Amino acid sequence: SKKIIVAVDGTSGSGKTETFKRVAEIIGYEFIDTGLMYRAFTLLAINEKIDFNSTLEITRLIEKFNYQVKNGKPYLNGKEIGDRLRDNDIVKYINFITVVPEVRNKMVEAQRKMVLGGGFIEVGRDITSVVLTDADLKIYLDSSIEVRAKRRYEQNLLLGITDESLEGIKQAIIKRDATDKNREVGPLILTNDAWFIDNSNLSIVNVVDMVVKKIKEME
Ligand code: C5P
Repeated sequence: SKKIIVAVDGTSGSGKTETFKRVAEIIGYEFIDTGLMYRAFTLLAINEKIDFNSTLEITRLIEKFNYQVKNGKPYLNGKEIGDRLRDNDIVKYINFITVVPEVRNKMVEAQRKMVLGGGFIEVGRDITSVVLTDADLKIYLDSSIEVRAKRRYEQNLLLGITDESLEGIKQAIIKRDATDKNREVGPLILTNDAWFIDNSNLSIVNVVDMVVKKIKEME
């Protein structure tokens, strides 16, 4: 049997990271979260105090971007940055940089090199459609806006965050979906060779089992 390459895309909040991290652990594959790379580049731009409205400044910054993952931990220019990448200020600015073609080209090139040899699950928004068009298995994960909003709302309550209403969360998700799906370069699309999984009514364990079974059949 031979380890394969799995490409995964899906909407924000559909549970891609949690689901596929578990799959990777079970089958002994490496999990690559490409969203973290865009987050790390945004962090660099914040640190360098660049003007987010200037495509020129963003493009120039690519030269200074050195991103690595060591033992599952992300490093930006040699410094570990793990926890910082989920902060709100990063999400606020990220879509200024995810739309710049030169930034995407650089990321795509790096993301292709990361999976040489097989045994990888790479997750993002343009992995099935742009980065790994020849992947052995392509998956598109989605859940309804209502379900994603409810999950986030309940997650917030567990964390003690009470200042976001369910409706506010729903509107934010609608906006993020639109940004991801309507961008000119590397938009989120469902390719016709992808396995579409709607997990609105499925638990993570259900989806993990389905995917693990499928990959084992293909190895
Ligand atoms: O998946 P995550 O929420 O961490 O992604 C952060 C941002 O990076 C999102 O706004 C998403 O649109 C963008 N992204 C992207 N291409 C990818 C992965 C993420 O444009 N392959």
